[in-house]
Amino acid sequence: MTEAPLLQVKDLSVHYGGIQALHDVNLHVNAGEIVTLIGANGAGKTSCLRAISGLIRPAAGSIHWAGQDLRKCDAAARVRLGLAHSPEGRMVLAQQSVEDNLKLGGFVHRADKAGNQQSLEEGYQLFPRLKERRQQSAGTLSGGEQQMLAIGRALMARPKLLLLDEPSLGLAPLVVAEIFDRMRGMNAKGMALLLVEQNAQLALRLAQRAYVLESGRVVLEGRAQELLHDSRVRTAYLGA
Ligand SMILES: Nc1ncnc2c1ncn2[C@@H]1O[C@H](COP(=O)(O)OP(=O)(O)OP(=O)(O)O)[C@@H](O)[C@H]1O
Ligand SMILES: [Mg+2]
Repeated sequence: MTEAPLLQVKDLSVHYGGIQALHDVNLHVNAGEIVTLIGANGAGKTSCLRAISGLIRPAAGSIHWAGQDLRKCDAAARVRLGLAHSPEGRMVLAQQSVEDNLKLGGFVHRADKAGNQQSLEEGYQLFPRLKERRQQSAGTLSGGEQQMLAIGRALMARPKLLLLDEPSLGLAPLVVAEIFDRMRGMNAKGMALLLVEQNAQLALRLAQRAYVLESGRVVLEGRAQELLHDSRVRTAYLGA
């Protein structure tokens, strides 16, 4: 028998009142893999990540983690299992210091003070700019630094899989390159990534596999390299 994927989403549907945002979405992420979910505004990418991390309740379908049904796990329990989420819009606590924001990400391991201290040091190594600004309130950071903080905070949970929603949004190319480089580094250490991106070009270059979401449905999936050269993807998402 082959091992269950780290994350398996089956026939996932999400509704907001009368609006159906996701229709029978199927996707999976294997341990150590980078998978990207691309699609236009409103396609349902954020809804998909929020359902996976337990922030919204799906109308139908199932989500399994290494073979375990997550239906009865709340968002905090999912973080404890190794599923962390760096949300769209970063959602840093503007009034709190950089370091307090990071420490919040280690809340699920609060009994493990030494482990959290080590994760904090690792976060600062990954993003030295956060260390320089650790006493500064998060609201005074630049957009790129806030994105680094959002990722650093998620890493404090020591995830096996990191869900990343639009890390490049609104950032200058150099900062985007830096953040993508760090993602590559985290993945080289064994962390799986499920990356939602508007910048399909960059995402498809980083990922091994990809799913294309249109109006809440997966309309294409496959190896990222192949989708990068697919005429439908090129026309709709790569401006070719
Ligand atoms: N809280 C909500 N209440 C009502 N409708 C919502 C809510 N959140 C999302 N929707 C709707 O669900 C659909 C999917 O939205 P979602 O945010 O998942 O898309 P997205 O692919 O992440 O878009 P974007 O690229 O703009 O971030 C949209 O039609 C949106 O208007
Ligand atoms: Mg979104």
